[in-house]
Amino acid sequence: MVIIGQKFPEIEVNTTHGKMKLPEHFKGKWFVLFSHPADFTPVCTTEFYAMQIRLKKFKELGAEVIGLSIDQVFSHLKWAEWIKDNLNVEIEFPIIADDRGSVAEALGMIPEGSTNTARAVFIVDPKGVIRAIVYYPAEVGRDWDEVLRLLRALQVSDKNGVALPHKWPENELIKDNVIVPPAGSVDLIKKRKEQKERGEIKCYDWWLCYKELK
Ligand code: BEZ
Repeated sequence: MVIIGQKFPEIEVNTTHGKMKLPEHFKGKWFVLFSHPADFTPVCTTEFYAMQIRLKKFKELGAEVIGLSIDQVFSHLKWAEWIKDNLNVEIEFPIIADDRGSVAEALGMIPEGSTNTARAVFIVDPKGVIRAIVYYPAEVGRDWDEVLRLLRALQVSDKNGVALPHKWPENELIKDNVIVPPAGSVDLIKKRKEQKERGEIKCYDWWLCYKELK
């Protein structure tokens, strides 16, 4: 079982772009690894189309994208060709051909009672640490805009030492402001109260403070 906070396991994978060693191949970069149940299936096709047309947005955040399913590389190549010929979109990111299911098994991507991968998403940071894992079932397609939001939020959190609220940057309560870590000591409670008085932060209470992202 892999969990967030762990290093992404060192594995060699066969992809539509050739063999790669993970996480080494993306060293120093964020990467998003997502699995889909199978090639040539309807929901997966809509997800691949949607991912490709957003790929630029992932790259703008300094992140690479890589797909995975328990299929052979020939199947991935043929499916990508079908998407290009029929939907006019060329899949530019690599897809792992995990035909033995060993990578999916190691990453815990196969649901109970299934032989296919779930719709899993792993976000891995430039140090190779797994920062987020999201699982969707086969019958529901993912929203890549939410994955982009999650990636961006992790980057903002790392850079600024803040936390991000529900649906940030469109939060109903604190708008696009960011959350100051809650005070965990009497000294910090005092500090938050002083920061509030100086107008540096706003607070509903000392444990619920927020500020503008500069
Ligand atoms: C699909 O992508 O349409 C799909 C794949 C596996 C199970 C159910 C739906």
